[in-house]
Amino acid sequence: MEYKFLIQEAKKHLPYSYAPYSNIHVAAAVLTDQGSIYYGVNVENSSYGLTICAERSAIASMVSNGERKPIAIAIVTDLDHPIPPCGACRQVLAEFNPDITIVMHSVKSGKTIVVKLSEIFKNPFMLKISEKED
Ligand code: THU
Repeated sequence: MEYKFLIQEAKKHLPYSYAPYSNIHVAAAVLTDQGSIYYGVNVENSSYGLTICAERSAIASMVSNGERKPIAIAIVTDLDHPIPPCGACRQVLAEFNPDITIVMHSVKSGKTIVVKLSEIFKNPFMLKISEKED
């Protein structure tokens, strides 16, 4: 499945990316098992290291809206090639679904790459949590 609709959804949010320092704009759309879609963009900061990636902002939105089961995420950029999630984002995605489908798309070239997180991030760090605690 190419998840073209999810790419279109992420694209709608690309103009909201706040990237005055890198000028690399990224938007993400997360599809959940409930059929909901949550969005995120990269949010940069004068103190560069505080930058939040689009993927993590989308996951934070999903959790903030009471959902915890993402099945696919579209990551859209204005670079001329699709970009994979950074290491930190892979770990955050793995927390909720180590096998999530990742759909990477460049609006400039039109190129799309689809992979499973489990293919590109094999051994996420995991702590067991009980149903009570979560
Ligand atoms: N960025 C993302 O939003 N997602 C990634 O997975 C990689 C990088 C953003 C962070 C920063 O604002 C810009 O791209 C350049 O690193």
